[in-house]
Amino acid sequence: MPVNLRDSWSIGGVEVPTRIVLAPMAGVSIQAFRRQGRRFGAGLVCSEMVSAAGIGHRNERTFGYLRVAADEHPLAIQIFGSEPDSMAEAARMVEAAGADIVDMNFGCPVRKVTKTGAGAHLMEDPELACRVVAAVASAVSVPVTVKMRRGVENGSRACLELGPRLVEAGAAALTLHPRSAAQMYTGFADHSVTAELVASVPVPVIASGDVTTREEAIAVLERTGAAAAMVARGAQGNPWALREMIEGEAFSPTREEVAAELIVFIREAVRELGEQRAVGFLKKFYGWYLGHGRFPKPFKQEIVMLRTTEEVVTRLFAAAPGAAELVERREAELPAAEDDIVLELPISVYGGG
Ligand SMILES: Cc1cc2nc3c(=O)[nH]c(=O)nc-3n(C[C@H](O)[C@H](O)[C@H](O)COP(=O)(O)O)c2cc1C
Repeated sequence: MPVNLRDSWSIGGVEVPTRIVLAPMAGVSIQAFRRQGRRFGAGLVCSEMVSAAGIGHRNERTFGYLRVAADEHPLAIQIFGSEPDSMAEAARMVEAAGADIVDMNFGCPVRKVTKTGAGAHLMEDPELACRVVAAVASAVSVPVTVKMRRGVENGSRACLELGPRLVEAGAAALTLHPRSAAQMYTGFADHSVTAELVASVPVPVIASGDVTTREEAIAVLERTGAAAAMVARGAQGNPWALREMIEGEAFSPTREEVAAELIVFIREAVRELGEQRAVGFLKKFYGWYLGHGRFPKPFKQEIVMLRTTEEVVTRLFAAAPGAAELVERREAELPAAEDDIVLELPISVYGGG
């Protein structure tokens, strides 16, 4: 059956309007990134991982707190932890904040997370993994989902054993990034494992890993039978990639469009994180946005050296004066910031998956 990326599908009772899902990325998927992803056609967006343990003890190192706005829905909020009760409490909080879906991180390979029993460690502790899912599923009325790696060690097939058990415990969908935790981001995502997972569970599976173009998205859905393809690195500084995937037409943004999109993103990041944190946070985005041959290299280098976001915005306007009108139009459409819900859930500084 030919795949149409514009078809809607659903997770539990939540309708997802397209087959492209914007991935959770620690240090990236702030609110500005998620709402932009929705605007460019992602059917579902996900927060970066937030720490369930941080709620109880407030001793996590944090990178700010979770903020939810009206134009992000459908939105999954991803929580991580290994303790069923605190995961259930975190799930209740994110549901109250407006999450349409509670996602659990069983894929993070970073040692600071796995050594606490969370993230990819749960791939090796099926009993605990199932208890966590059961506790979270019974704590909330929205669907709960799990994002997994294939397993911890290279070649592991742990996800194929664990997946069906997680569904029995209450997971309404599963996402698979079919690399091992040991692989981190090396090698490639082996989607033959995704196809096996799809065949073994009665719920939708989202395929994550190495999808950057429309052709790759369609190929992975056709090959695996997954319900949707998730895009992570391919959307960094490149929301246009999402639009191309959904609409099927090549789209090269003009300098004005790139500058305008980046300026709106900068302003939102400042609002969300505060100037001090935003300065460091944004540096990687400058490279991502201004690359792809969109701006000359020296310009990129100059931007990265600037000390305040206001200087960056001024420099971008000077380089692309036509951006001003686009920024104005875009900002007029944003919902009022005062209506955001801000949650005392720490954004992890360790993330991954
Ligand atoms: C910078 C970065 C941060 C990530 N943070 C998370 C995270 O917080 N939670 C998660 O489940 N996966 C996380 N991931 C994994 C991605 O969601 C995705 O599964 C992986 O990058 C493979 O997809 P890609 O090839 O499209 O990048 C992260 C990936 C990157 C590159």
